[in-house]
Amino acid sequence: MKGSLIISLSLLVLVACTSKSPMDKYIDNLMGQLTLEQKIGQLNLHSAPGFISAEKVMEEDENAKLLNQGLLGGVYGATNMTILRQYQDIALQSGAGIPLIFGMDVIHGHQTVFPIPLGLSTSWNMELIEQSARAAAREASACGINWVFSPMVDICRDARWGRIAEGGGEDPYLGGEIAKAMVYGYQGRDDVYDTDDVMACVKHYALYGGALAGRDYNSVFLSRQEAMNGYMHPYKAACEAGAGSYMSSFNEFEGIPATMNKWLMDDVLRKSWGFDGFIVSDATAIAEEIQHGIGDLQEVSARSLQAGLDMDMNSDGFVGTLLQSVKEGRVKEADIDHACRRILEAKYKLGLFEDPYRYLSEERYATEVYTPENLAFARKVAQECQVLLKNEGVLPLRKGAKVAVVGPLAADASSMAGTWSQSNHNAESVTLWQGISEVTPTTFAEGSWLLRDAAIEDGVRYGLIRMFAPGTPIPPVHARPQAALVAEAVAQARRADVVVACVGEIPGMNGEGASRTDITLPDTQVEMLKALKATGKPLVVVLVSGRPMDLTAVEPLADAILNVWSPGSEGGHAVADVLFGDVNPSAKLTTSFPRSVGQLPLYYNHKNTGRPHPDYEPYRKFTSCYTDELNGPLYPFGYGLSYTAFSYSEPVLSTTEMPVDGSVTASVMVTNTGKRDGDEIVQLYIHDIFATSTRPVKELKAFRKVHIPAGESVKVDFTLTKEDLSYYNHELEWVCEPGDFEIMTGPNSRDTQMVTLTVK
Ligand code: BGC
Repeated sequence: MKGSLIISLSLLVLVACTSKSPMDKYIDNLMGQLTLEQKIGQLNLHSAPGFISAEKVMEEDENAKLLNQGLLGGVYGATNMTILRQYQDIALQSGAGIPLIFGMDVIHGHQTVFPIPLGLSTSWNMELIEQSARAAAREASACGINWVFSPMVDICRDARWGRIAEGGGEDPYLGGEIAKAMVYGYQGRDDVYDTDDVMACVKHYALYGGALAGRDYNSVFLSRQEAMNGYMHPYKAACEAGAGSYMSSFNEFEGIPATMNKWLMDDVLRKSWGFDGFIVSDATAIAEEIQHGIGDLQEVSARSLQAGLDMDMNSDGFVGTLLQSVKEGRVKEADIDHACRRILEAKYKLGLFEDPYRYLSEERYATEVYTPENLAFARKVAQECQVLLKNEGVLPLRKGAKVAVVGPLAADASSMAGTWSQSNHNAESVTLWQGISEVTPTTFAEGSWLLRDAAIEDGVRYGLIRMFAPGTPIPPVHARPQAALVAEAVAQARRADVVVACVGEIPGMNGEGASRTDITLPDTQVEMLKALKATGKPLVVVLVSGRPMDLTAVEPLADAILNVWSPGSEGGHAVADVLFGDVNPSAKLTTSFPRSVGQLPLYYNHKNTGRPHPDYEPYRKFTSCYTDELNGPLYPFGYGLSYTAFSYSEPVLSTTEMPVDGSVTASVMVTNTGKRDGDEIVQLYIHDIFATSTRPVKELKAFRKVHIPAGESVKVDFTLTKEDLSYYNHELEWVCEPGDFEIMTGPNSRDTQMVTLTVK
């Protein structure tokens, strides 16, 4: 008996050994040859010299020195292929000869720049978003990069947060679809990394967009249930799409910094969702745990590793302290082994052990980057990412009309590229003025200061340069008086047929470390708009921004408002395509646009409260509302106009009673009642009327972008199953609770029509 047990046990061991994958065998063997110090070295990531970030800039020789000692697993932020090659050479010649992984913040395109992610999301076109990530992957990999710090999938409900620009908006379902599309775009849809695929890094894990009061890096106070229902889905969707890595976030959650939060990294991401890649910290996030008030570098490094973090970006906490922690028995060698294995696995999957230079192709660099084809695609993408917020019959413009192009953003190329664009070609981005002047006769005037306060304007324009390149000559802001700028714009407006005012935010006003308490259009720009309005000329406002802005003061001044975000390398062309009607706008908002900053956080999928108040009715005491402002947004989530018009039928259900394991189809007829063909984003929302926990008044559960020729109708069918009707209950169980659900369809989250479905 005992003998046969031993035989079957050894058989089991044999089977387990022989069934090991080639990767496991390779890494077992490699790990067997590594010293503990070399293993720790793999957990270390540094930025390349000259990389501009809000953290320290590493010196080239410091990286080289570490590499020589085998103490670096990867480098990020280097665009120069010669440097990458040199690094790889040293890595292979030193220590264990393990190739480096090369990362980069490729956020919305690489050298060819697409609209910022918030803009991209307004296309609601997952194929387009996937293709844009694919194009970015091709360019990045042709520049030697094999790992991109994207997609950024942080849900955000507070437009004060500058980093809302980097994500897909306020809705978890839409955010999840975008997350998947981007992961597929970067990594490809199969399991193999080809040389034009890159590994995605999903960030910022987790809940970073919940920063209190929209202040960057601020604490996040959310319940686990609200986190799971309102924020976590995109991170999960990215995992399901096979994302290779995650980046931990700067914020704390439940009193524990995310970078050492075991519940987030180990319990949820790894154990519950089955993630088997590696997790890197955000830049200097381990060291920042000292400031969070957790302990010294040794303490925070140990705790981060033990919580499931694998790689340290720019803190030198792992290389600096883990060896000592092992000696003292504070950290187990096995924890280091786990982390090291995950990083080696990533390198293996990227094919770097087979050929460490497989991404370093000078030929690809010369032929595949910033090509006319890529630029043409960037133009196409940007055409689909412009939200028409208002149009009193002034758009499209007539080609040949005399246009006064005015405003501080009209001739600013960097505002086209937007935040997190590290393209060498930013200054070549097609400006709005350039794009318009290629179509029709124009004049140009700057029209106003960007901001009233010169010191703040200098900060948002030149802060980074002052920080990282002191001594660089910087032109003075406010070189001409505001009144003179306005007068010049007005004079040109008087001589024109129509005015196109290009206003909004430059990239320094959104993105990382760029939160605002006032999200209105700066008053200097409003002053200009008022003066232009007084000329009586038709006034088109082209809004460049990285966040939903409070346009309450702008709305009555403008005959049309086109929100173009930061539209990318081909921005000016793509905007002109829409302004002059070559393209019919079809984008819709993925964030609510507030009437006032005082409404924030503002999001369509809010709870009802016990004393609900209708969104567009005035103040009534003892209901959940404000004395001085409506509850509803100025422009709701899902909103956007077209040059044609669409009408919607009521939704019709295939059955009004659905068994909990069954399905139901909701159908809606959408008719193009205008004179132009157009694309319409048809949306479906649900509301779980009674549940064991309170549920949002509306939740997006499906959408479809359809092309509808003028005068024609299209029937759009949405099939729902219990997955679409489920949520995380108070015990964090994913449940579909029988009962009545409202099923709503419409062109946006406000203007929906509803039928009731009973789930049995
Ligand atoms: C940002 C990340 C970025 C990293 C590396 C950090 O400051 O939060 O989004 O990927 O820097 O550049």
